[in-house]
Amino acid sequence: MRNLLSAADLDRDEATAILDTAARMHGIQTREVKKLPPLRGRTIVNLFFEDSTRTRSSFEIAGKWLSADVINVSAKGSSVSKGESLRDTALTVAAMGVDALVVRHHASGAVQRLASWVDCVVVNAGDGTHEHPTQALLDAYTLRSRLGSLDERHVLIVGDITHSRVARSNVLLLTTLGARVTLVAPPTLLPSGVGTWPCNVGWDLDEALSGKAFGDVDAVMMLRVQRERMNGGYFPNEREYAIGYGLSPARLDLLPEHAPVLHPGPMNRGLEISSLAADGPHSVVLDQVQAGVSVRMAVLFRLLAGAGEEVSV
Ligand code: NCD
Repeated sequence: MRNLLSAADLDRDEATAILDTAARMHGIQTREVKKLPPLRGRTIVNLFFEDSTRTRSSFEIAGKWLSADVINVSAKGSSVSKGESLRDTALTVAAMGVDALVVRHHASGAVQRLASWVDCVVVNAGDGTHEHPTQALLDAYTLRSRLGSLDERHVLIVGDITHSRVARSNVLLLTTLGARVTLVAPPTLLPSGVGTWPCNVGWDLDEALSGKAFGDVDAVMMLRVQRERMNGGYFPNEREYAIGYGLSPARLDLLPEHAPVLHPGPMNRGLEISSLAADGPHSVVLDQVQAGVSVRMAVLFRLLAGAGEEVSV
């Protein structure tokens, strides 16, 4: 594997190897000295054309803990705001002897295009409404830590599927790892063509959560309502959305005790998720953030040091 552009780049063995490497690296988070040597002398640029808190900082931390030099370039404050094209920006940054570009862009497909122009490693940190493979890996890591093997486990993904690169990458990766996925959303927030995806699709959250519609649930992932990508009325108002699709305290009671609640963040509290669900005993939201660092360390290590290499921790 040269780049990580899509969750579809990962077969079961490769995905499992990344998760296993991440598990070995996870322990570093509780050490006093958080530094391993394998990427010493390597340079990674985080090239972000869209806002980010978790993804950018965790890629930065991951690179630094592996001893790489990490530089952040964002559209604001760069020559992008002077009208430079994506290709010119990418070639300029790559010409500085960079080993890996970690790229987030608001246009679906932009990261794949960029990867065809440069010789260095490219990691997709989210392209438009298309894919976000490292998010899917950290979600799989979190689920595996809670549930063990994902074989035959049933994961509900709920909310704004249309605008969610997280949902797309998760459907691909979770099914690769043997899980069953059900998407639940109002019909207006389901993308066209969703019928061809390898998952169930439903509209009634209570039926899905209680297991009546698609069988018992092992985990539920709530998605953010992505208002910045909406240009029309996808639902009547926020109150109606919360009533139909929010993870309220009453809905939390429908979940089996063992089932974790995930959210990629940032959360709209009171809209897609209640504070009780976000902060309660089912919630693994902060475990996801922690897993993000370990999984990104594993991805950078495997892409830059080589898939055959073992990391000594
Ligand atoms: C997600 C993203 O940017 O796609 N967030 C993230 O990476 N943690 C989901 C979102 O923005 O809602």
